[in-house]
Amino acid sequence: MSMSFDLYREIILDHYKNPRNKGTLKAPDAKWRENNPLCGDVLEMQLKISKDKKLEDIKFSGDGCAISLSSASILTEMVKGKPLDEILKIDKKKLLGELGIDPGPSRIKCALLSLKVLKMAVYSYLGKEIDRETKDL
Ligand code: FES
Repeated sequence: MSMSFDLYREIILDHYKNPRNKGTLKAPDAKWRENNPLCGDVLEMQLKISKDKKLEDIKFSGDGCAISLSSASILTEMVKGKPLDEILKIDKKKLLGELGIDPGPSRIKCALLSLKVLKMAVYSYLGKEIDRETKDL
């Protein structure tokens, strides 16, 4: 989809141009792939999880617009090394705050796709029931 870059703050562009933690892991303990229902772009996250249930490593891959890919890059930096139960507490407000923009209704799915994919990966790893907020992201 086309977009006008000047709408986005420096941080978004920086993560778009130099994405952190992009790629795949050799032997991930959990992974999840999901598409943005509005545009069809797909995002995957792969996780390496330690025995004491901390996120040791994380990589993301996929297609998407600057917002979705920057969001994924920023989110991976936020969660690396964190315990899984803390990661499940991250809500959309927190991620949007880190992004530093209000994506507006047409781009909100782009901005939150990474959070949905990450949480789904964690839920699937833990075998936990998915909460309502995650489903609705
Ligand atoms: Fe597809 Fe944003 S336009 S993820």
